[in-house]
Amino acid sequence: MAIRTTNISSLKKIKIETYLEVFETISELPKDIQELMNKAQQARENAYAPYSHFRVGAAIRLTSNQITIGSNQENAAYPSGLCAERVAIFHTGALYPNQEIKAIAISASSSSQVLDEPIGPCGACRQSMAEYEQKQKSPIAIYFMGETGKIVKVASVLDLLPLGFDAKYL
Ligand code: THU
Repeated sequence: MAIRTTNISSLKKIKIETYLEVFETISELPKDIQELMNKAQQARENAYAPYSHFRVGAAIRLTSNQITIGSNQENAAYPSGLCAERVAIFHTGALYPNQEIKAIAISASSSSQVLDEPIGPCGACRQSMAEYEQKQKSPIAIYFMGETGKIVKVASVLDLLPLGFDAKYL
């Protein structure tokens, strides 16, 4: 797993490795994750994306096995909109503050091209997801894809955000 903070000690150079698992199609995913990715694809349909025409759906699996969802919600005042991943994770935190998150599936599509490669979450969403991982003290697996094609899995948000900002610095 990637590291949250560096133990810099006397080292002058540090190599950070990230581990990704690549699945060729949804049918290669474990059954519970197939279901989760299908929910993320359905959630995409409820995106409100009149400005970008870029639709993202995210689905979250809790340890209770419940699934929650989110999609990107845009606004005419552009920065007021929010990404699918943060809609999903904040919605989950608001509804189920004491439940652990096991996995998040993300799928993106665009009206201007077929997205057939994995689309990773933006930096702000990585930061937000990392906080929930830290809060629950157990890793959250992230699976992401475009509209079709391969799916990338990371076992922890930290694999997408090494050296992220951490509440312990506050
Ligand atoms: N978007 C997401 O929902 N998730 C991301 O990780 C990146 C971008 C949304 C925000 C905006 O509504 C649209 O995609 C284009 O940036």
